[in-house]
Amino acid sequence: MEQKVFYLLITLLVLISCNSALSEKDKEVYALKGKEIAEASFLELSIQLTDQMKAGGPAQAIPFCNQKAMPITNQLSEEFEATIKRTSNNLRNQQNTPSKRELEILDEFHKIKLEGKQLKPIVELDADNKKHFYAPIVLKANCLVCHGKVDETVSVKTDSIIKSLYPNDKATGYSDGDLRGIWSITFKN
Ligand code: HEC
Repeated sequence: MEQKVFYLLITLLVLISCNSALSEKDKEVYALKGKEIAEASFLELSIQLTDQMKAGGPAQAIPFCNQKAMPITNQLSEEFEATIKRTSNNLRNQQNTPSKRELEILDEFHKIKLEGKQLKPIVELDADNKKHFYAPIVLKANCLVCHGKVDETVSVKTDSIIKSLYPNDKATGYSDGDLRGIWSITFKN
């Protein structure tokens, strides 16, 4: 009988240690990695966007984003050995459509923001043991030329350029400090 209990305990221990939950240490490591990747991606997109805005305003920057935002994030994905995605409940580019889990995270972040609490990145494992990092994307004043309220921060002309490229655009109407979406980073290892 005692032996049975002993084996049962061993089995339990093995099960617990094989549990796929991330350790606190791993969570910290991947939170840092995720933050670094999101910041580098934001910087790269911002630099290129600012250059285009300076060169030709929204009429040049919007088509640029349309063609280059995906290739830029795809290249960064290769560099960082991770899949880098930006997604939102109010999409502009349909290619950024959220997955089921991303939608849950978006809802959760919107809820936290409504409650006036601080948004923090999330690190977690999925059923396939892949590590994910999710972090909020909050709008700043300089984003509003293309994401703000039409006829206020977004000119009617800019809105028509956006609509010509994204007929189903949902990504205007925002104010400074609004939650625009999330970074969703999936690590390759
Ligand atoms: C010159 C216009 C312009 C400016 C300024 C701009 N965006 Fe965008 N944004 C776009 C376009 C066009 C897309 C769709 C192309 C893409 O990036 O996939 C987009 C897409 C996005 C997406 C992806 C989700 C979706 O709806 O497709 C996020 C997130 C985003 N923008 C956040 C921001 C933030 C944050 C800022 C300010 C730092 C900003 N944008 C400034 C034009 C702009």
